[in-house]
Amino acid sequence: MTAVSLTVNGETYEADVASDTPLLWVLRDNLGLTGTKYGCGIAECGACTVHLDGQPVRSCTTAVSQAQGRSVTTVEGLADNADLHPLQAAWIAENVPQCGFCQSGQLMSAAALLARNPNPGDADIDAALRGNLCRCGTYQRIRRAVGRAARDMQEQG
Ligand code: FES
Repeated sequence: MTAVSLTVNGETYEADVASDTPLLWVLRDNLGLTGTKYGCGIAECGACTVHLDGQPVRSCTTAVSQAQGRSVTTVEGLADNADLHPLQAAWIAENVPQCGFCQSGQLMSAAALLARNPNPGDADIDAALRGNLCRCGTYQRIRRAVGRAARDMQEQG
């Protein structure tokens, strides 16, 4: 076991874990941040997507040691206190989720996309979210919601 110090959603956390423990399990089991989901465990489905220094990564195959000294953002950190992230508001407006299991990963990949490309076209959205699988097939609604959020963010300046 090693004492690791993590910065997650702007808060500092300590955990005693093996240094090769996947970040996903430290987030869920040690820190209680269960918004990040386990789908496949082999970097194939995207359900476990979080941001490391703003870049989307698969937390199921990211060792916790790789996250030390970097800024981790999970779906719990997307909203600004009571203010939903525009993507979350758009998700509600477009009634995106069906079973919902993949949605936090979808949101994190979409948030990373909008941070680097505030005006994505459908092809950009599809490319950014290609690695996030949805068994319910909500892809059309996801695409609409990302477009809506991009427009809302531009209107809000
Ligand atoms: Fe990490 Fe599927 S659980 S990609």
